[in-house]
Amino acid sequence: MSADYQVRNNVAVITLNNPPVNGLGLATRIAAVEALQMAESDPAVRAIVITGAGKAFSGGADIREFNSPKALTEPTLHTLIRTAEGSGKPVVAAIHSVCMGGGLELALGCNYRVALPGAQIALPEVKLGLLPGAGGTQRLPRMIGLEAALDMIVSGSPVPSEKLAGSLFDEVFPAGTELVAAAVEFANKVADIRPLPKVRERKVEHADAQGFLDAARAKVKAAAGAFPAPLECVETIAAAVNMPFEEGCKFERSRFIHLTQTVESKALRHAFFAERAAGKIPDVPSDTPVREIRSAAVIGAGTMGGGIAMNFANAGIPVTILETKQEALDKGLATIRKNYENTVRKGKLSPEKFEQRMGLVKGSLDYADIAQADIVIEAVFEDMGVKESVFRQLDRVMRPGAILASNTSTLDLNKIASFTSRPQDVIGLHFFSPANVMKLLEIVRGEQTGKDVLATALALSKKLKKTGVVSGVCDGFIGNRMVEQYIRQAGFLLDEGALPQQVDRAIEQFGFAMGPFRMGDLAGNDIGWAIRKRRAVEMPEVAYSKTADLLCEAGRFGQKTGGGWYDYQAGDRTPHPSRWVDDMIVRHSKDLGIQRREISDQEIVERLVYALVNEGAKILEEGIALRASDIDMVYLTGYGFPLYRGGPMFHADTVGLANVLAAIGKYGRAYHGEAWKPASLLQRLAAEGRGFNS
Ligand SMILES: NC(=O)c1ccc[n+]([C@@H]2O[C@H](COP(=O)([O-])OP(=O)(O)OC[C@H]3O[C@@H](n4cnc5c(N)ncnc54)[C@H](O)[C@@H]3O)[C@@H](O)[C@H]2O)c1
Repeated sequence: MSADYQVRNNVAVITLNNPPVNGLGLATRIAAVEALQMAESDPAVRAIVITGAGKAFSGGADIREFNSPKALTEPTLHTLIRTAEGSGKPVVAAIHSVCMGGGLELALGCNYRVALPGAQIALPEVKLGLLPGAGGTQRLPRMIGLEAALDMIVSGSPVPSEKLAGSLFDEVFPAGTELVAAAVEFANKVADIRPLPKVRERKVEHADAQGFLDAARAKVKAAAGAFPAPLECVETIAAAVNMPFEEGCKFERSRFIHLTQTVESKALRHAFFAERAAGKIPDVPSDTPVREIRSAAVIGAGTMGGGIAMNFANAGIPVTILETKQEALDKGLATIRKNYENTVRKGKLSPEKFEQRMGLVKGSLDYADIAQADIVIEAVFEDMGVKESVFRQLDRVMRPGAILASNTSTLDLNKIASFTSRPQDVIGLHFFSPANVMKLLEIVRGEQTGKDVLATALALSKKLKKTGVVSGVCDGFIGNRMVEQYIRQAGFLLDEGALPQQVDRAIEQFGFAMGPFRMGDLAGNDIGWAIRKRRAVEMPEVAYSKTADLLCEAGRFGQKTGGGWYDYQAGDRTPHPSRWVDDMIVRHSKDLGIQRREISDQEIVERLVYALVNEGAKILEEGIALRASDIDMVYLTGYGFPLYRGGPMFHADTVGLANVLAAIGKYGRAYHGEAWKPASLLQRLAAEGRGFNS
């Protein structure tokens, strides 16, 4: 049963009951419509209350039904709402905790609404690139006014119920009221009032609706960027002002259907499900026991160590940072303090919380001080020898059952685990810089990593408000292994005829937060230089453009040295194209005997993005990533890939894998074919007419 029925004091109480949030799935809709009909035909019933069991009134559509024919099977949400609205007896929605999306649209179809304070009221469809498609855009402005409705629908943000007392709600009861009893009493009070009040019969009141809508169009358009949904929301709300109710509903329906077909909405929905899927590991069931994390330690107070420690402090977990020298420790702790002080200055952290967080961070030079921590994360220099000495020491001192994690970006985690007598406790936790800001956490599963350790890491990622994505062990894991191919192509483009500013501009227009050369200048070009030197020994057959080495040989490491691919003025991060760099690149092409050519923006984008896609396909076929959507999450949350394109693998599906493969073949025939060897998975899927995600 997914809606319960009961009669109390001549009032039928229908309780939606579809845990966890009473999503309005098919079974719930059938049960609710039947219950409404039962109430209608029972002569003992004077009025009807609809409420929700457990943790919500209703969270809206049942996301398990998304993309399934069930969503459109009768009774649809429309039918349910119209059944409530068409009832001959007054229907009262009794709202608590959460009332969102279709849940709010159902409440708007009722004759009355009552609530407890503190309930979260929202129409969040815009966050999935959609608009409320079951009358929400037509009824909400009629109820709470044009401006407030537009705010709620365009932002998708929740509003607490008490703020809507007197507009959306006929009554907001005092906290602690027994909701159903109060709603039944309310229903009895209004039971005889006729005609029944209906939201659809109201008018949208506004002194200058057209003027307001015009201003809203301009503002929303500017803020929405590539996303069409916010502006469509404004247009459908305008229909609530300008059209009769039924016509407005038809318009809403047509715009809703249009939005479901847009790439942007598909991308947002893909990301929504991808985030949930990433937390599921096939051979680690969701009931796998997790280890409790009550305290943490971080080894190394450098760029990463400090940021990692802040994550724990932000989550209320005490953390001790261990360093070899007092000076390095003091410097690291001072940076953390400064970061928090900046947040306080911006008004985003209260002085009390600042004290609280700083109070959770301690420093030490002595391993004995961290021995009892539940987890330790190593963030020392990227050098196997240093990692070895740290992990041997951790193995000696850490209490049994402690998780030993490494933040290494490129080194072999299995080797690191082999330095300990407890490889089952060793895992990679690869944070991204700045570690206190970036959402991505690559969770690197070693050959012997325990399932409970993996489950604990996934749970920890949620506690630290990160998006955890599991990766197998390989050089660079998912994200950096792919970006390596992207950066190689960026280098080849310079050799062939492009300049850094053209490459950056093209890929930024595609939607990346930052192009590869600006990124290099920010992170420090010396990091890649060191990696290439290592690769030159390990894999001499892999070619790179030499321009990046020439840049570093000239001491141009990036922003930190006042110049890299671009010139910088002191204290300013604005990149200025560099004459020196342009000359160096042109000279280098000449030295290679390459006739420089005009390169189109389209070629730049395709070469950079398809290099990611092809490597992503290899990562998938090797089982380093569990699913294409995991790769997309890595790129959306760690590499500034445009959300409205859904990630590199989703984007490839949108373009069509046969088209991607054809382009890869074309570029491979032209230059550096070795870099374009197509992944066999890509070839197979393209031949079958399939996508990575389908
Ligand atoms: N910087 C990045 O963008 C980034 C991103 C992801 C991962 N990583 C990885 O994180 C790790 C740290 O990188 P970083 O950029 O923070 O380096 P960093 O040089 O800024 O900091 C390293 C710190 O470790 C300390 N240290 C060195 N040996 C130690 C030891 N034996 N015991 C205790 N402390 C020791 C150093 O004093 C220094 O403060 C590396 O493995 C790196 O690959 C870096």
